[in-house]
Amino acid sequence: MIRRAVVKGVGHYLPKRVVENAELEKTVDTTDDWIRSRSGIERRHIAAKGEFTSDLGAAAAKAALDNAGMSADDIDAIVVATSTPDLTFPSCATMIQNKLGMTKGYGFDIQAVCAGFVFALTNANALIVSGQAERVLVIGAETFSRIMDWEDRATCVLFGDGAGALVLEAAEGEGTNDDRGLLAFDLNSDGRHKDILYVDGGVSSNQQTGFLRMQGKEVFRHAVEKLAATAHTSLDKLNMTGDDVDWIVPHQANLRIIKGTANRMGVGMDRVVVTVSDHGNTSAASIPLALSVGVERGQIKQGHVIVTEAIGGGLAWGSVVIRW
Ligand SMILES: CC(C)(COP(=O)(O)OP(=O)(O)OC[C@H]1O[C@@H](n2cnc3c(N)ncnc32)[C@H](O)[C@@H]1OP(=O)(O)O)[C@@H](O)C(=O)NCCC(=O)NCCS
Repeated sequence: MIRRAVVKGVGHYLPKRVVENAELEKTVDTTDDWIRSRSGIERRHIAAKGEFTSDLGAAAAKAALDNAGMSADDIDAIVVATSTPDLTFPSCATMIQNKLGMTKGYGFDIQAVCAGFVFALTNANALIVSGQAERVLVIGAETFSRIMDWEDRATCVLFGDGAGALVLEAAEGEGTNDDRGLLAFDLNSDGRHKDILYVDGGVSSNQQTGFLRMQGKEVFRHAVEKLAATAHTSLDKLNMTGDDVDWIVPHQANLRIIKGTANRMGVGMDRVVVTVSDHGNTSAASIPLALSVGVERGQIKQGHVIVTEAIGGGLAWGSVVIRW
């Protein structure tokens, strides 16, 4: 018998305001057709003034707790993946802890940009299998609208705000691929590529919040190559292939990247959860958002094998295989 981290609940939250591509046509030199054909994005949600990343994260966490039939008192630890925390410190996780009314346990943030949720899941799994926690809330929450240069048409049309959350709980497994829970992981980073996707501000450099800067074509090239490779690495650890996968739940950055990755994995688009059209790229929030929407749509069911994969600034990238 081995200890596994099993998904007990999932939920998400999206800010009320929806910005259609047509609205962006009025503020930057772009077209709905360009955005759709290059990225697959049709609309995105944007947080209201005074609505913070921790508000989005707390709302998603409450939805996940409800889905799990648990309360915040049942949780030992909160791991939040975000690159857009409310403040430089304290962590977004402690802000969410407070908003959930939790006064015990502990919370901390993980920053691996768009790959953040894969890193957060891996770390939450480590807390559970090492016996340091029984139940962990894993949250991806972002307000990327706040680090957009709204005059840069090459980036501002691609991103959105949102949050998603999972509740993981310790359970005994047989140690086989039939166990429910998180089964395999692969994490990578390579700081040589720091200049192709970054924010040009920070505490220790210029004391500014900064704006997202991206060499889109370069990022695209790395994404298609690295995402299929990391998914294969995780599946190889289980002697699984694309044929064993019920759903790929990819980071939702660009429909062309999603299709290219699925193609390289030999998985048809009928087994890929796609939400990028409605959410844009919500960075670390995109995978838990897509998991939650995939469950809501009736696509993801208990027992399914899910592969998540993501890449983001750093570059940092990785994948996780989950039996739901
Ligand atoms: C950004 C991205 C959509 C651009 O697509 P692309 O196919 O590389 O773009 P193209 O080469 O066809 O077009 C580039 C041209 O469109 C223009 N352009 C950029 N943004 C535009 C917009 N919103 N509307 C209209 N034109 C735009 C550029 O100025 C450029 O014009 P030029 O050729 O005259 O210089 C694509 O590279 C991409 O998705 N990259 C990965 C981004 C990503 O996922 N990042 C996050 C990872 S977590």
